[in-house]
Amino acid sequence: MTIQPGGDMHGRELRGADLAARIRAATAAQAAELTAAGRTPRLAVVTATDDEASAWYVRSIENAAAKVGIACDVLRTSTAGGITATLTQLADDPEVHGVILQTPLPGGAVLADLARAIPADKDVDGAGPESLGRLAAGLPAFAPAAAEAVLALLDDYLVELRGRHAVVVGRSVVVGKPAAHLLLGRHATVTICHSRTADLPAITRQADVLVAAAGRAGLIGPGHVSPGATVIDVGTNATAGGGLAGDVDPAVATVAAALTPVPGGVGPVTTALLLRHVTQAAAVPG
Ligand SMILES: NC(=O)c1ccc[n+]([C@@H]2O[C@H](COP(=O)([O-])OP(=O)(O)OC[C@H]3O[C@@H](n4cnc5c(N)ncnc54)[C@H](OP(=O)(O)O)[C@@H]3O)[C@@H](O)[C@H]2O)c1
Repeated sequence: MTIQPGGDMHGRELRGADLAARIRAATAAQAAELTAAGRTPRLAVVTATDDEASAWYVRSIENAAAKVGIACDVLRTSTAGGITATLTQLADDPEVHGVILQTPLPGGAVLADLARAIPADKDVDGAGPESLGRLAAGLPAFAPAAAEAVLALLDDYLVELRGRHAVVVGRSVVVGKPAAHLLLGRHATVTICHSRTADLPAITRQADVLVAAAGRAGLIGPGHVSPGATVIDVGTNATAGGGLAGDVDPAVATVAAALTPVPGGVGPVTTALLLRHVTQAAAVPG
């Protein structure tokens, strides 16, 4: 069913599981073909943190990669210098097709700065400045998987973007900015908000499509959303009870036409797209 901004329906859940399963199935088929041709897709995850949430994420990537037939190596180091040396080695390794650098990084290091050592054709989570620059210039590039997942969900639920007002809350290089570029590329009129935006609700209420990527649990309440809007919640915030909360208060369902749940919305699609990028990178003759 097409979701028309301004329509009178509300509260539809845009779940990501089904789309993620379809992406995984296609990725597994492509990985099998590549493996049969002697080119098993291989992902390297570089990490320099003991952070619990990060370790959990890395394990989930390893498991998900194994299920679709992608080899996955986790390389641990502890310093910014160690990260650069590891990334430089991986850049020259013809057996490795995709590289991701896990956050948090040691001692104030900046992701986009260290990720310069990942060649754009292996930068499967679009972390480096070349990837973002290519995306902004409309050139082929791997977009950060979370930003691409926003578009993939909107497409899967046939949400119209052309000429619509998309408001993105968050301007990070891994979610907000690339999501804004992808939405622009689809002819939405895009506004980006951030922590210094004055009167956030007045701006978010103008959105036909609202993308929340601030990392603040419950930041977006019913008063931030106009009836008929579609709301995509990228936020993943740990709750006191050990669960996960989005940036969007679930009460927004009483106003919005449709919204993604957390967990179960953007997250599964993000992981599936990240793995698809690895097989896409491996499919390029190198
Ligand atoms: N579902 C997934 O697969 C997935 C993947 C990646 C990230 N995430 C989640 O997405 C969220 C954002 O991630 P990120 O890496 O982009 O975070 P980030 O680097 O911390 O950036 C957060 C952005 O939100 C803005 N912001 C913070 N508080 C705000 C407020 N009160 N009002 C308006 N804007 C505000 C910040 O503004 P300033 O620039 O002014 O500081 C910043 O631009 C996090 O919850 C993260 O865990 C989910």
